[in-house]
Amino acid sequence: MYISELHKGIESEITVKGWVTNSRSSKGIEFIVLRDGTGYLQCVIDQNNVGEDNYNEAKILTQESSVELTGKIIENEREENGLELLVSKLLIVSISEEFPITNKAHGVEFLADKRHLWLRSKRQWAIMKIRNNIIYAIHNFFQKEGFVQTDAPIFTANAAEGTTTLFETDFYDNPAYLTQSGQLYGEAMAMALNKIYTFGPTFRAEKSKTRRHLAEFWMIEPEMAFYNNEMNMDVIEKFLQSVISEVLDKSKTELKILDRDTALFEKIIKNEFPRITYTEAVKILKGEKDVNGKNSLTTLEADLSDLKSKIEELKKDIAEREKMVSDTNIKKGKRNFIKSKIGQLKNELKSTEEKASYIPQWLESAKNFEFGKDLGGSDETVLTRMFELPIMVYNWPHEIKAFYMKRDADNPDFAKGVDVLAPEGYGEIVGGGERETNKDLLIEKINEHGLPMDAFEWYLDLRRFGSVPHAGFGLGLERLVSWICKTQHIRETIPFPRYYGRLTP
Ligand code: 4AD
Ligand code: MG
Repeated sequence: MYISELHKGIESEITVKGWVTNSRSSKGIEFIVLRDGTGYLQCVIDQNNVGEDNYNEAKILTQESSVELTGKIIENEREENGLELLVSKLLIVSISEEFPITNKAHGVEFLADKRHLWLRSKRQWAIMKIRNNIIYAIHNFFQKEGFVQTDAPIFTANAAEGTTTLFETDFYDNPAYLTQSGQLYGEAMAMALNKIYTFGPTFRAEKSKTRRHLAEFWMIEPEMAFYNNEMNMDVIEKFLQSVISEVLDKSKTELKILDRDTALFEKIIKNEFPRITYTEAVKILKGEKDVNGKNSLTTLEADLSDLKSKIEELKKDIAEREKMVSDTNIKKGKRNFIKSKIGQLKNELKSTEEKASYIPQWLESAKNFEFGKDLGGSDETVLTRMFELPIMVYNWPHEIKAFYMKRDADNPDFAKGVDVLAPEGYGEIVGGGERETNKDLLIEKINEHGLPMDAFEWYLDLRRFGSVPHAGFGLGLERLVSWICKTQHIRETIPFPRYYGRLTP
């Protein structure tokens, strides 16, 4: 049986097959935590139940050894899944060599090098399960709403999202590029099938090692005929709420393993997301406009001064305790206790200092932000800190957006794009908008962006033959997984991440 199904087998004799993640012994009993990929199970190997031979075999089990365990499944409230296996028979499948990843802390590069093994650890397991539930919820939403899933090609002849992030490959002696986005093909398919979505790998050659960037990531791109950008924003909101609500429901165990506070998600699924124009967003960022009585600059300054006083307090506390430790009359037990407390305080000091160190940069960037520029990572952080819910920023200066974006007829300096910025410092997770239908404006833009016109002739056909208003968006799967799981870095959200400097394992 699989561990995830064991509640159906209480009090019966079953066999589970899996790997040893942890073991400890006490007087004639070996306790093993077994994982089989579907869950974790405490197994009790008592010498009196299994006999001497099996018991001796149990004692040589190393971390990640694979086994088959037979026994009676009983209830035990103290266990995470409320179950425990009283083993009657042990069969060793393979004894593992010394596993490189243990319970002690490892560096990020070390773990990245061992990604093929790191995936077996509990946190990574939980993230991959949540990723799976997110993917399922995404399909569920679109299928229920009558969208047709279609696929865009991966080899392309042209850029969709700017020429600076193209991966060039050789396609039968001609240059081809790995797709940056399925959108342009999605537009063609929307004219054939109406509401569609693509779900595929996309590539960006950014030489960027930030916590938000991958070179290869999965994008979900719906495209809707006869939609404008307001309707598009309605879909985005409903879509994200639906996915989050399904994941909250199905991933309770995994979210708990990650220690993820889900109170915010409960609010998100019930409330409309604030919609603000780019122009308003810039005012808020620069402290020229308040949000519910909160000002971005004074909030940042207050946060900084709070952090600074916390740093002073921590330093004082550490110094006092260090003085206590240096006292020669102090008992050994007490000294060790204080020493471990000092260690904790030092870690807290380090993370507080790190938090404080970002704020002056954020302040600088916010104050000096030039209207008309794209929002940078730190600007997004400052802005989203002013709101609890995700925000939708729309009507962007057309010059910083892609060539296909619909110009606002009443406001020709702006284009009808929308970005969704996730709270808690995560920033952009969705980018989209209404598409330009004016063929002449499109041709002008294609030239302005230095794109090869012949590669876009087919795209211009979509405007020649029964052109209609249409809109859509792209969600970066890993950005969503990262935010939902609250991971430090996006590289934990995909089984084998590819980013600048990382092609293996
Ligand atoms: O904002 P982007 O570049 O928009 C497009 O590609 C549009 N063609 C989408 C559309 O309208 N159909 O990318 C969309 C999303 C971003 O909001 C982000 O979530 C994700 O894709 N993304 C990345 N994720 C990880 N690593 C990267 N390097 C990413 N670049 C974009
Ligand atoms: Mg974008």
